[in-house]
Amino acid sequence: MSNTQAQAEQEEIDLSQANEIIDKYINMKGALMPVLQEVQEAYGYLPEDCVQLIAERLNVYPSQIYGVMTFYAQFHLEPRGKYIIRVCMGTACHVKGAGRIADTLSNRLGIGHAETTEDLKFTVEHVACIGACGMAPVIMVNDATYGSMSVQKMEEVVKKYQGMD
Ligand code: FES
Repeated sequence: MSNTQAQAEQEEIDLSQANEIIDKYINMKGALMPVLQEVQEAYGYLPEDCVQLIAERLNVYPSQIYGVMTFYAQFHLEPRGKYIIRVCMGTACHVKGAGRIADTLSNRLGIGHAETTEDLKFTVEHVACIGACGMAPVIMVNDATYGSMSVQKMEEVVKKYQGMD
């Protein structure tokens, strides 16, 4: 278990926000998706206690919720970083050195694919083609795209975001 996970599990989750969101949708058909989306927006991820609560109150099995979460990659069971750094590992980016860029990022942040730094500042994800092959190799930080990446540029981007709140 990662430290982040352990930390997250130790924390008591305040369920009042989740209850308020469920209250809004409880009598609606197809409530599950909007509830999951809003709860994740409120908490930044879907804590297990919230999943249990949603299951109880919407009268579905937790396994159904986990199934939906697995199907829709936008849902997350663990806290995520403020900055999500996506490194494209698609063919065009791979050929142009995405591996070296991913390694540089891992070395700088001390985390690999699908991991989050302990201070919850960064999450790293290796992703498939993001549709900007002309700028390969490409990374994204939240909504910002950085193209023609090199090891040096990766270092600069990390420094820039480390210096930001
Ligand atoms: S392969 Fe990286 S953007 Fe297409």
